[in-house]
Amino acid sequence: MAKIVGAINTTHVPLIGRAIHQHLEHDPYWKPFFDGFPPVRDWLDKVKPDIAVMVYNDHGLNFFLDKMPTFAIGAAPEYVSLDEGWGIPTVPSFKGDLDLSWHMIESLVDDEFDITTCQEMAVDHAFTLPLKLLYPNDSQWPVRTVPVCINTVQFPLPTVNRCYKFGQAIGRAIESWESEARVVVIGTGGLSHQLDGKRAGFINKEFDLMFMERLVTDPLWITRFSIEDIVEQTGTQGVELLNWVIARSALQGDVVKLHSNYHIPISNTAAGLMLLESV
Ligand code: DHB
Ligand code: FE
Repeated sequence: MAKIVGAINTTHVPLIGRAIHQHLEHDPYWKPFFDGFPPVRDWLDKVKPDIAVMVYNDHGLNFFLDKMPTFAIGAAPEYVSLDEGWGIPTVPSFKGDLDLSWHMIESLVDDEFDITTCQEMAVDHAFTLPLKLLYPNDSQWPVRTVPVCINTVQFPLPTVNRCYKFGQAIGRAIESWESEARVVVIGTGGLSHQLDGKRAGFINKEFDLMFMERLVTDPLWITRFSIEDIVEQTGTQGVELLNWVIARSALQGDVVKLHSNYHIPISNTAAGLMLLESV
């Protein structure tokens, strides 16, 4: 059976794309952010996953407000990187893994999750930048990918508890796939941020750090919060933490934190990073 080697959660701020393009990794503004990544890259180099299941939210590139699936899964041979308007460079296309995509889709539907299947899918900064951060020197992506796209954009959003269960079902799906493949689950987005409105620039360090701690020690803690509570605590775009919840709950049982970083702000966002393994 396939093996989940671990989970990584990271911020996906578009400005990171420009910083990479302009080689600003050692610039004082960016250094504390980029310095978080080498331990995770070393771990990837050691465990060598074959496939990355990417749990992220689309920002008006592949889905627009007129058609917004709650949960969507890619089942395409290739995913093209496009820019939805930030003006950041695109990256080479990503190879899909049709066998895992369809196995996950069948397993999730069997598990009573009604998902949208996408046999054609473009991916935005929330998918591309985390992979660029994790594999900065590779001229070809060393992993095949399966996009799992969560609606964190247009209300009503899935509850935290639903996302927690969805992550568990993703974990069961991957681990019931007859394959020798090694799979890493990557959640992107967050942590606290609000891009517009009266509270634009809002960041809640105390809540973010509590969330990161509880994700390891008590992952059900966050399910006690309603979506409105999460918006209040973390800002309108802070709800992207749902992607972190899913990546975490794809790991069955207890987990150990191998590495984390937290730095504020990057653009308007509290930049978080976590590497988790099952114990
Ligand atoms: C920013 C953060 C995001 O998560 C995003 O999708 C777009 C912009 C920001 O802080 O600039
Ligand atoms: Fe975002």
